[in-house]
Amino acid sequence: MAKQHYTLTVNGEQRDVLCEPRELLIHTLREQLDITGPHVGCETSHCGACTVEINGKSVKSCTVFTAQANGADVTTIEGLGSPDGLHVLQEKFREHHGLQCGYCTPGMITRAHRLLQENPNPTEEEVRFGIAGNLCRCTGYQNIVKSILAAAAEMNAAKEAAE
Ligand code: FES
Ligand code: FES
Repeated sequence: MAKQHYTLTVNGEQRDVLCEPRELLIHTLREQLDITGPHVGCETSHCGACTVEINGKSVKSCTVFTAQANGADVTTIEGLGSPDGLHVLQEKFREHHGLQCGYCTPGMITRAHRLLQENPNPTEEEVRFGIAGNLCRCTGYQNIVKSILAAAAEMNAAKEAAE
């Protein structure tokens, strides 16, 4: 199949890629653009390890062709925080032990980020429902939920302080 040119904005930067129309976005991100935060888990849209944001929506990047993301804004965990400037969700996951092996963590935090954009003050039940598409094999979810609720509280307090 002939390769095609596509242009995506990834973490605020315009990126040109050349790939077959059948290539999955997760593979373009990891193998062409060296963006390795989103992980490959099941490749069947079950685990959420590959979660990114496309045009402000949580998307499992193993279920999207790069061709479908042509012209879109894509945000990965790398676009949320950096080792020198962690996003509050990353800080809270560290503080509350929201990760063990870390395989699910980039997708989990990227999903939690969108969840808190959509619902800045979720209940525990809403957090659990909101991350239902992201599987973790290590933590038992307790500390993940605690981390997300703690991040929500801190983000809301910062917002109030700024008003
Ligand atoms: S790798 Fe995409 S949902 Fe599991
Ligand atoms: S921390 Fe290991 S899979 Fe979630």
